[in-house]
Amino acid sequence: MHKNRLRLVGALAAVLVAGGMAAPAQAHDKQPTLADLAQRHGRYFGSATDNPELVDEPYKAVLGSEFDQITPGNGMKWYATEPQQGVFDWTAGDEIVNLARAHHQKVRGHTLVWHSQLPDWLTSKEWTAKDLRAVLKKHIQTEVRHYRGKVFAWDVVNEAFNEDGTYRETIFYKTLGPGYIADALRWAHQADPKVKLYLNDYNIEAIGAKSDAYYKLAKELKAQGVPLNGIGLQTHLALQYGYPTTLEDNLRRFSKLGLDTALTEVDIRMILPATEEKLAEQATWYADLTDACLAVRRCVGITIWDYTDKYSWIPAFFEGEGAALPYDEQLQPKPAYFAIRDALK
Ligand code: XIL
Repeated sequence: MHKNRLRLVGALAAVLVAGGMAAPAQAHDKQPTLADLAQRHGRYFGSATDNPELVDEPYKAVLGSEFDQITPGNGMKWYATEPQQGVFDWTAGDEIVNLARAHHQKVRGHTLVWHSQLPDWLTSKEWTAKDLRAVLKKHIQTEVRHYRGKVFAWDVVNEAFNEDGTYRETIFYKTLGPGYIADALRWAHQADPKVKLYLNDYNIEAIGAKSDAYYKLAKELKAQGVPLNGIGLQTHLALQYGYPTTLEDNLRRFSKLGLDTALTEVDIRMILPATEEKLAEQATWYADLTDACLAVRRCVGITIWDYTDKYSWIPAFFEGEGAALPYDEQLQPKPAYFAIRDALK
């Protein structure tokens, strides 16, 4: 009841801001940031960012002040870090790590093993299991070693399952079998015994076939002593598909396995144009997923997949959709921003 009222106040404030009747939130320097509020709960509140955006000074100002955790949107992916076999390039990832360190922000490493955004040299060849294993091990260990002490967590394997809970038939699965996941975790752990190791995926926010597959795998890996610390729920939601109401229960069942959880790539897209109603519903969803994370002790933090619609990946990947983030294209906070604040208060 109390929470709902606060949210209404937040939504009203947002309308006033939109109508030019009040200054935007970041104009009040003394207001606690999302990071400040999250820290009071022992959580972080982070944003992804990407190298091309880092020339935008107003963008960087909010990125550096409002958040206490950063994920590189692309800079640590295989195509970027090992563009030729055995030739490593840390330029993009390092730029983001250095920026984050300058703002005392922690960094999530994303991602070591994924079927997408692979370099051509890797995808254009037929590999024997022996050779691909060696390539995979070298990639993981070289990258994890390079960022040792600089990232607190790694998305070791990204998007390993299909919607029905079967293994995705990636080059790694097809060549190495399902054991590539345990191997990847073990190799990463050897290279940095302190970093938290995650499996990360989308459409695993609700309880269902795909999240069940993670639950089952995580349980097996734990039983076998494989170094797995957490499950990352990407949380790319869309208004037209409904809110995942079992999110909190789902987070809790992973906690009970002794795992951390994190909402790692949150955005809530909608079919454009954005209306006041849709933005209000989006705000409620952002508050609800924040509540869900706060309600489960081992949900360690929330990362939005960039913070502003100006740099969201959504319009380029989902035709006719967008407006997915808590700040608009002018870097002004939307109702979602105020709803997150209220939920964190
Ligand atoms: C996206 C980036 O944001 C885009 O810039 C890029 O073109 C494609 O990848 N799931 C993930 C992220 O794990 O790495 C993806 O990031 C979004 C979906």
